[in-house]
Amino acid sequence: MKLSALLVGVVASVMSMAAYAQQPIVIKFSHVVSADTPKGKGAEFFAKKADELTKGKVKVEVYGNSTLYKDKEEMEALQLGAVQMLAPSLAKFGPLGVKEFEVFDLPYIFDSYDQLHKVTTGDVGKQLLSKLEAKGIRGLAYWDNGFKSFSANTPIKMPADLKGKKLRIQSSKVLEEQIRALGALPQQMAFSEVYQALQTGVVDGTENPVSNLYTQKMHEVQKHLTMTEHGYLGYAVIVNKKFWDGLPADIRKQLEDAMEQSTRYANQIAKIENDNALEGVKKAGKTAVYVPTKEERAAFKKALVPVHQKMESRIGKETIQSVYKATGFDPAKM
Ligand code: LMR
Repeated sequence: MKLSALLVGVVASVMSMAAYAQQPIVIKFSHVVSADTPKGKGAEFFAKKADELTKGKVKVEVYGNSTLYKDKEEMEALQLGAVQMLAPSLAKFGPLGVKEFEVFDLPYIFDSYDQLHKVTTGDVGKQLLSKLEAKGIRGLAYWDNGFKSFSANTPIKMPADLKGKKLRIQSSKVLEEQIRALGALPQQMAFSEVYQALQTGVVDGTENPVSNLYTQKMHEVQKHLTMTEHGYLGYAVIVNKKFWDGLPADIRKQLEDAMEQSTRYANQIAKIENDNALEGVKKAGKTAVYVPTKEERAAFKKALVPVHQKMESRIGKETIQSVYKATGFDPAKM
């Protein structure tokens, strides 16, 4: 081979190595809700910030609305490394074997976002995230959605109005017990299947923060929505631990900064998104929105708070007590 040909070959391979070295690190971020929700917007915000802070060295690809994976599959995909980042609802960690997360599902355990943040930004929240390490998962942050309300095709004023109804729930044993406490029938189902199940009558009703109900158009197939706001729905942003630990330290730090900013953003917009969604439901005019009276609210509390004690052996008394302590919740005062 002539020297010039050899040189051309060497230069070409050096150039392709340089191009390879400049390939961005890709983070696939999969989730199940619409882009137009607190989580959907939080994920897009993170993608933008990650690009900005790493100067293009990291490219976050967001796959929303169950386009890549549904609830159960996304958890498996994360552990296998097929995706690197998720933000499943806190109600979906039980099947992974981390049952303590179901403390967030206990009805009426948080009265407000402020109370909830005492847990998620404090020691209890940190300890809960650390339990994911043994599953090959690193917990990075908590992102808010909001408080769930019941919907159905018949009016809901008192707990008895839900008796015998088939209600869709997320994969949480606490939520299962909560539905049974109303004399209703829990039906566990992936989020992506709920609209059709409501439309075809496979289930009669469900519970959602309004942002999820509205962006999935569930209000088109639910005639009644009662603002029970009986439980919280929020997320843990999680990554594949091996992937995360394998990142260059400077890039990991930039991504941590991007996550911190995204968490602030997502938690700032969560209530507004839910308020706007409620306006949207009202404007659409297909669903009667009912706000329970003080007495009706008290009746729901009376029916549902006993779930706390019933689920003590599953969640762990210590975990429940530490949340009570952080928020000042007193079941005796319910
Ligand atoms: C649900 O399944 O109802 C929610 O967890 C969906 C979500 O991610 O908000």
